[in-house]
Amino acid sequence: MLADKRILLIIGGGIAAFKSLDLIRRLRERGASVVPVITKAGQEFVTPLSASGLAAEKVYTDLFDLTDEAEMGHIELSRSADLVVVAPATADLLGKMAGGLANDLASTLLMATDKRVLVAPAMNVRMWEHPACQRNVATLKADGVLFAGPNEGAMACGEFGPGRMAEPLEIVAEVEAALADGPMTGKHVLVTSGPTHEPIDPVRYIANRSSGAQGSAIAAALVALGADVTFVTGPADVPPPAGVKAVAVETAREMLEAVEAALPADAGIFAAAVADWRVASESGSKIKKDGSGALPVLEFAENPDILAQVSQMKKGRPGLVVGFAAETDDVIAHATAKRARKGCDWIVANDVSPETGIMGGSENAVTVISVEGAEAWPRMGKDEVARKLAARVAEALAP
Ligand code: CTP
Repeated sequence: MLADKRILLIIGGGIAAFKSLDLIRRLRERGASVVPVITKAGQEFVTPLSASGLAAEKVYTDLFDLTDEAEMGHIELSRSADLVVVAPATADLLGKMAGGLANDLASTLLMATDKRVLVAPAMNVRMWEHPACQRNVATLKADGVLFAGPNEGAMACGEFGPGRMAEPLEIVAEVEAALADGPMTGKHVLVTSGPTHEPIDPVRYIANRSSGAQGSAIAAALVALGADVTFVTGPADVPPPAGVKAVAVETAREMLEAVEAALPADAGIFAAAVADWRVASESGSKIKKDGSGALPVLEFAENPDILAQVSQMKKGRPGLVVGFAAETDDVIAHATAKRARKGCDWIVANDVSPETGIMGGSENAVTVISVEGAEAWPRMGKDEVARKLAARVAEALAP
């Protein structure tokens, strides 16, 4: 719910602007108040009258309106909100934000605000994929701007690909995640998730069956408690949850780099199924059959152990480090030894033998191992495991 939350909604100039009217309705249904700001281009798609009718608030369109004594100044307008949402966020608006330009009301508000900003990009696929746009997106992500979408699909311009604005309810989910308040507000948690892919050659790789479901559910549960979550994910089946700062990686070495860049954190939860080995003899070009019947021989090298490295950091170690142990036999004994060997605080152990259906399935049966011993949790949905674990993490980090 968004009761008593005030959202400043900047509507940019794109065909998707019509969905922003529905967004106003959806946000208000959940108890939020919405103050619309429409750019000049945005007014070509929706009228201030319809936005103001749906929002039941005054609509702002022009920077110089605000010089009127009776009006709120732009600084005050940008700060009176709990969250600034830009939907649709056009390539132009993203460019202005990344470059720090402030030549109209929307861009000035975005520069002046001290609140979090959530953008829902909407543009043609080529514009989205243009290196200039992707540079701006990377800059904004590094600045902590939150993203909803864009989605992939058919576009108004007749092309297909990423660039469609996220649906109003998807944006609402991101707004709720961004405004979630709870015992973990102000805490930064790093979560790794999914498998890693270790290339053999440009077209082949070694992977594992991890879907990323458990890691995603944990990140979502932490966001719901108000945590600020950096979600470092390998190529998973399950998309990153709403409200996280997602960092996509492929290999174990890239995952380590992303983890190091995300520190410091109050807690680190290492749910990724990291490949233990990579192919040392990775070929730069596709390995071909040479006709002689000779089989290729792959040489392996050991990957860095991310959990062990972070657990054993002398400086900047997160206050709580949680590892996972995927075992197929002697689960508790192996996991207990793993906790000691790697130096993490807790190990969440599970039995991933094929007959359990856990890897790739929706349920999990875990045993949480800490210095105090092993605690077996009954088999339950991965979402429930996630909520229980997030609550434990919140308790452990509480002053
Ligand atoms: N892990 C990691 N980096 C690696 C390997 C594992 O961070 N290179 C982390 C996983 O994210 C998980 C924990 O270590 O939290 C245990 O992973 P698991 O695959 O069960 O253990 P391994 O170290 O691979 O040990 P083994 O394969 O011998 O059981």
